[in-house]
Amino acid sequence: MQELVERLRAARSVLVLTGSGISAESGLPTFRGVNGLWRTHRVEELASPQGFARDPQLVWTWYNERNAVHRRAQPNPGHYALASLEERYRDFTLATQNVDSLHLRAGSRNVLELHGALRTARCTGCDERIPIDSSGLALDRIEHTCGGRIRPDIVWFGESLPRNAWESACAAADRAEVIVVVGTSAVVYPAAALATRGRAFVAEVNPEETAISDRVDCVVRGTSAQTLPELIDRL
Ligand code: OAD
Repeated sequence: MQELVERLRAARSVLVLTGSGISAESGLPTFRGVNGLWRTHRVEELASPQGFARDPQLVWTWYNERNAVHRRAQPNPGHYALASLEERYRDFTLATQNVDSLHLRAGSRNVLELHGALRTARCTGCDERIPIDSSGLALDRIEHTCGGRIRPDIVWFGESLPRNAWESACAAADRAEVIVVVGTSAVVYPAAALATRGRAFVAEVNPEETAISDRVDCVVRGTSAQTLPELIDRL
């Protein structure tokens, strides 16, 4: 961790990329771990435009349940540590693959939500955005007055990332002197490509080995809620 501390002390531009592992200690499941969501649920039914076209009620029932679970969850010390890290830099970007809003709730400001967020929905026809509260979307509201359907504002498999968020994240990766990759298996592209696209010093914070472990400059093997506060203390 010492080398990462020194790099962060010297850096003026920092990018952090997070995945579902950072919310594990808030009680939210990851996707590919032992109890991961994609071990017990069918991705193609729940996270693809084809699945939504076939059974929108099933898709909304699942996202409504996840939304309720996210709302009950609280940010953990890992989220708060990243919010406090942001305070140290003028140029700090947090690109997340998570849709749980926990970074925003912890106080992070410059957050790019690469895979969308569960707090809004949007219409497949007119693109109107609708806020989603803790009770989710009522199943009798899926059909929109314009003839389209209200869908979760989430990036599904086979879909492009939101253009602005993606372009900002690429620019941040190119500017960054340090990139910290936290709690992601780094197998889902294009998000994973951010980690290694620039010339930055790249550190991985993860209790397990990942697809990019052998390409990063430094590995912090531990959970994010344990190691990130320690990192901040040492800066
Ligand atoms: P994965 O489930 O693929 O990976 C979770 C990572 O978190 C693993 O590398 C774990 O080792 C790590 N991890 C587990 N507990 C941790 C902890 N306490 N602290 C730090 N790390 C921990 O989840 P993602 O990489 O987020 O996309 O998956 C990427 C995308 O795939 C998701 O955004 C989602 C999914 O399909 C969409 O839904 C579009």
